[in-house]
Amino acid sequence: MDNLSRGYREAVPEDLLRVMDTQDTERLAKLLADERIDAVIHFAAYMSVGESTQVPELYFQNNVSGSLSLFEAMLQAGVKHIVFSSTAAAYGIPERVPITEDEPYAPINPYGESKVMVEKILAWLDRYRGLRSIPLRYFNACGAEPEAGLGERHDPETHLIPLILRAIRIGKPVTLFGDDYPTPDGTCIRDYIHVSDLAEAHILAVEYLLNGGASGAFNVGTGSGHSVKEVVTAVERVTGKKVPHTIGPRREGDPPSLVADSQKLQRTLGWRPKRTDLDRIVSDAWEFAQKGNS
Ligand SMILES: NC(=O)c1ccc[n+]([C@@H]2O[C@H](COP(=O)([O-])OP(=O)(O)OC[C@H]3O[C@@H](n4cnc5c(N)ncnc54)[C@H](O)[C@@H]3O)[C@@H](O)[C@H]2O)c1
Repeated sequence: MDNLSRGYREAVPEDLLRVMDTQDTERLAKLLADERIDAVIHFAAYMSVGESTQVPELYFQNNVSGSLSLFEAMLQAGVKHIVFSSTAAAYGIPERVPITEDEPYAPINPYGESKVMVEKILAWLDRYRGLRSIPLRYFNACGAEPEAGLGERHDPETHLIPLILRAIRIGKPVTLFGDDYPTPDGTCIRDYIHVSDLAEAHILAVEYLLNGGASGAFNVGTGSGHSVKEVVTAVERVTGKKVPHTIGPRREGDPPSLVADSQKLQRTLGWRPKRTDLDRIVSDAWEFAQKGNS
């Protein structure tokens, strides 16, 4: 189900889509009961860090209240398993990199805080209501499934790879935020995780919960980082085109390096990322973008 506030009808087979809002507890409870749902994967949220600093209340309303309403509906319908889209933003500017799940919560924007609040609600619902949950803390989701017609399509787009690809397509420079960070080439390092590897983690997490696995959060990242400049170079290699770009000032709240330690996910769920090659990630995103999607 999706309220289509930020999604696209054509991204989902028509007969599978239910247009409704997470805030509509009653309709959700009925849907869960009618369809005899065993487990929920909860992606529905607003996800722009910048927007969350402009209208924090929107993020608490949609991401926190919406989630709470969904959990209430699940409890009413007797559904006791949920996988939740969380984020590396829960860690803020981490003390140690690679980041393990033991790193304390330290969000530095309302978006990250909204995800932390939901994780905390889930921990209490596990303890007192038997609702088993796995928050998956995504690092930088990227790539695409071009043959399925699926890829990144945010409006406005804020993510690096689609922005770089758009700069090539429209010939207008993309701004890269800061090249004076304490990293080898001065640009920020991030852990880019292909959306299909991310999807596989969700399936394993659902299976784990349905087999009686305990609640707990897992990082989802490859464990190796790439700098912004490395991404630009990969895009130039894959597309054979120069990336028009300018270097702007640092963006507030951007840590120099965010890389996941995802050993817990590998050990506990047997997950292995398969599409870790940056060129593969970029080439899937490029194929999707060339179809006029970003
Ligand atoms: N893309 C990333 O890099 C990334 C990283 C970390 C976490 N996440 C999380 O993953 C999830 C999916 O992200 P995405 O990039 O696919 O975002 P997206 O905006 O493409 O998808 C979110 C979907 O949720 C729907 N939605 C929002 N509020 C809703 C509501 N109240 N009721 C019903 N539907 C609602 C939107 O219409 C949209 O289709 C989000 O929860 C996001 O916070 C994404």
